[in-house]
Amino acid sequence: MSLDQSLDKILIIDFGSQFTQLIARRIRELGVFSEIISHKKIKKNNIDKTIKGIILSGGPLNVYEIKKYSFDSKIIQEGIPVLGICFGHQILSKINGGRVKQSKHREFGLANISKKKNSLLTKKFFKGKNSVKVWMSHADQVSKLPKNFRVIASSQNSKFAMVENQYKKFYGVQFHPEVTHTENGKIIISNFIFLICKVKKNWSVKNQKIKLIKEIRDQVGNKKVICALSGGVDSSVVAQLLNKAIGKKLYCIFVNTGLLRKNEEKQVVETFRRKLKINLIYVNAENEFLNKLKNISDPEKKRKIIGNLFIKIFERYAKKIKDVKFLAQGTLYPDLIESKSVTGSQTSKIKSHHNVGGLPKKMKLKLVEPLKFLFKDEVRRLGLELSLSKEIISRHPFPGPGLAIRMPGFITKNKINILREADFYFIKALKDHGLYDKIWQAYAALLPVKTVGVMGDNRTYEYLCLLRAITSEDGMTADFYDFKKTFIQMISNKIVNSIRGINRVVYDVTSKPPSTIELE
Ligand code: XMP
Repeated sequence: MSLDQSLDKILIIDFGSQFTQLIARRIRELGVFSEIISHKKIKKNNIDKTIKGIILSGGPLNVYEIKKYSFDSKIIQEGIPVLGICFGHQILSKINGGRVKQSKHREFGLANISKKKNSLLTKKFFKGKNSVKVWMSHADQVSKLPKNFRVIASSQNSKFAMVENQYKKFYGVQFHPEVTHTENGKIIISNFIFLICKVKKNWSVKNQKIKLIKEIRDQVGNKKVICALSGGVDSSVVAQLLNKAIGKKLYCIFVNTGLLRKNEEKQVVETFRRKLKINLIYVNAENEFLNKLKNISDPEKKRKIIGNLFIKIFERYAKKIKDVKFLAQGTLYPDLIESKSVTGSQTSKIKSHHNVGGLPKKMKLKLVEPLKFLFKDEVRRLGLELSLSKEIISRHPFPGPGLAIRMPGFITKNKINILREADFYFIKALKDHGLYDKIWQAYAALLPVKTVGVMGDNRTYEYLCLLRAITSEDGMTADFYDFKKTFIQMISNKIVNSIRGINRVVYDVTSKPPSTIELE
């Protein structure tokens, strides 16, 4: 993984903490660029003059399990200020000659820490109080301080909760200042970056816009770039960014798979071609997709067929454009970070099932990935800066295989039409009731089950509609949204009364895990 060498930064060395990305986001919120690199990847020669400070993250390891991490301690002897957080604090102490041992009292959750000495790191942190609540999550702790270090704050169970060597500018905190549970946590991070590392503000989405547009121009020159546009947030922001940078040299390809939501293709064409004047190639491949999916009910087969056909169509149109040299993709920063390799848990690999993943190798195209250093919330703000509508920016995620994976069993045109209507009513009701933005993702699905109902004096025998609405941070875990009874009753009535083909509605209350967000 290469580091961006154009901006001064705070480098975060990741030891596998679930909060590492949060540290980077906090620093960026303060207006300073920050980058994450795994402890496995960092080399001494990565430390260049753009690195104004280093943060060692927390992690699940024990500092004596040396085989599980290979960290060159020379990295932190370069005269650059260092802040160690939790495991980072322990490793910093150990490297400098201190000792770490398993604590008698493991601390998980809130603890009070009290001030022992004045320090630049804690300026305005205690705000005149004796103690402050912080978030702890550790089993080991520093048991002997290294030479020339002193204690600046302690908790009941962690004598060395905050320590410093002010001459070397090494600081260690046993708690997590990056989490919101820690009172005034942001002040610690701010003091470290501004008072100790003395960095200047260099990060805002506004100046990123200008920088990214320039970088795209530098990278692609007057060559042609293609981009698969889905109408989702990431591909929309990429498309608009490239549109601003290279105008008609950008060719966006939007494939109507026949598995889109109601009016989606019309909205995409209207927005991108007519309003934003983006060079858009609209491909109506509805029949091709539905033919290929005929009599297929296996979820993985559906996904494969759709993915392969998508690539084929994309290639077909890319060839027609001729002399294309680049492919633009909406890879985000979390897709790039391999930080979780230590814990073995997955990072937000939502993109891994992305449709165009297999394209570049086959087509020998170079990648343009302008969002690769951005977090999702930054991409959203960038989109607004680029005059994309709030509607595009706050859209719920929609999977590449579309309605096919929200329709277990066989896919027919009739079923798609029924599902489209149900989904339309559900999403409209969420928007009308001010619920859409409170929910991470919501959709209707059509189950391959018919049940008996009664409407007027007639018996009905129709499909079952499942509604799913979840809250989530990143799609990796999710919880169902707790609607009021009146809302769920209203939408159930609306769907059953308005749509021929559905006579029963159920609400999915499973979380992820053990379920997934989509049905297939
Ligand atoms: P699951 O069902 O795995 O979904 O819990 C997690 C998130 O990923 C989205 N998803 C996809 N996105 N192509 C995509 O671009 C896909 O094939 C795909 N499958 C699932 C899903 O909508 C949810 O937001």
